[in-house]
Amino acid sequence: MADLTLSGKNPTALKADALVVGTCKTSDGLAVVADQLPADLVRQIETLAPQLGVTGARGEVRKLPASADVKASVLVLSGLGEREADGTFTTETLRRAAGAAVRELVGTASVALALPTATEEDLAAVVEGALLGAYSYTAYRTGDAAAKQAPVSSIELVTPFARSARAKAAVERAKVVAAAVHGTRDLINTPPNHLFPAAFADAAKTALKELGAKGVKVTVLDEKQLASGGYGGLVGVGQGSSRPPRLVKIAYAPAKASSRVALVGKGITFDTGGISLKPPAGMHAMTSDMSGAAAVLHTVVAAARLGLNVAVTGYLCLAENMPGGNAQRPGDVVTIRGGKTVEITNTDAEGRLVMADGLVSAVEDGHDVVLDIATLTGAQVVALGHRVSGVLGDEHVRDAVKAAADVAGESFWPMPMPEELKAGLKSNVADMVNSASDRAGGMLFAAVFLKEFVGETPWGHLDIAGPAFNEKAAYGYTPVGGTGVGVRTLLAFLEERARLDA
Ligand code: BES
Ligand code: MN
Ligand code: ZN
Repeated sequence: MADLTLSGKNPTALKADALVVGTCKTSDGLAVVADQLPADLVRQIETLAPQLGVTGARGEVRKLPASADVKASVLVLSGLGEREADGTFTTETLRRAAGAAVRELVGTASVALALPTATEEDLAAVVEGALLGAYSYTAYRTGDAAAKQAPVSSIELVTPFARSARAKAAVERAKVVAAAVHGTRDLINTPPNHLFPAAFADAAKTALKELGAKGVKVTVLDEKQLASGGYGGLVGVGQGSSRPPRLVKIAYAPAKASSRVALVGKGITFDTGGISLKPPAGMHAMTSDMSGAAAVLHTVVAAARLGLNVAVTGYLCLAENMPGGNAQRPGDVVTIRGGKTVEITNTDAEGRLVMADGLVSAVEDGHDVVLDIATLTGAQVVALGHRVSGVLGDEHVRDAVKAAADVAGESFWPMPMPEELKAGLKSNVADMVNSASDRAGGMLFAAVFLKEFVGETPWGHLDIAGPAFNEKAAYGYTPVGGTGVGVRTLLAFLEERARLDA
């Protein structure tokens, strides 16, 4: 995690390798928007930058040699685009501009940031974006390669709020949030030969210890306990792999919490599809099929580190979906924890099977609300693309998740669960099938299936299939590979819950 401090100084005097300032688009070209920057330097950049083709567009990051009156040797212009109608920039615009600049400065040790922070909320966004952008995954690079890709390690941020207590609190919160997002990304980026269910369970314990999440209790059910406990979804999906499944519970329970939230995460450490084997072309990306479980783990860690006054229990549904000799077959019938039977019509619809066990387990434990998060369906990607996640479930929970996502700066969009899709559950031999014969509305049908296992408990379902893993170019604070999507939304949901309870 990069070291981050606030400063009220003139940014030109800061000792750093690079100085980042904001640019924006105006009716007559480009303007510099940066806290505490001397007027003559602003004029100098505003004259020079357009001649170099700099436009101030969102996502634009340009590096220039800094002039002699700037202590840093590199000047970085990070675009904020056009101002909103009221003259401000949205917090997400600021978060991304900070993140993009810091991300592009990979390999640079120290950075001074002078972006506009008109309010403490803006400052919080810039801090968060900068830390989120200071990430790279180098665990499996050797020699010089790792050093060249080292993220920025020291950030000094210029703001008029440098001495405010609320600003300092925002910095502390952002450090916890960024550590959670980075931890999630690390798990997703860990190659699937290294991250299998038992390794994930160990990683959960390590994360709690290393990040100092106190008072969090971990329980791990191994394959024998899963079989004797009737967790037929996890057992069935996991049985085709030589590396058996796990159900990990991580419970954070502050003494006076008035509400109890369950978070259930899909943790398929690799999804080959099983006997209903996936085509080879995109299969490697299924190393990210545990993104939901990773987000759940790190959200619980963050909730504990922030001392939120809500009890949160995470359920990590961990299995590897492989087509081994003992793999489940299309046509098999499995019994989910609690007794409902499912006919496996497609072994590639495995996520909903492990999630069914996790949801039943969460409901048994008694919670006021259950949220689940999963890279559940390809249909999610078809419907909403690579940057917008779907949120489904009970209407009021769904809308609360959407509101939390908006606060957090993550893109989620509400999706319906049409009554008529229930017909697709019909099986000739069991209580239901896991995959409908009609592919239409696949994201919605998966939610309809999960609903069968939550009963009356208020429930929300987050399908992050597309946004969890970025196979395209990096943008804003989002790197290539694991993105950590969901953590900030889940955390904002919990924070809102704590606020309402207070
Ligand atoms: N893990 C996949 C969903 C997925 C697809 C995640 C693309 C990320 C990117 C899931 O287990 C799956 O295979 N779903 C099937 C379900 C179908 C067989 C009903 C799908 O969406 O094709
Ligand atoms: Mn699958
Ligand atoms: Zn899957």
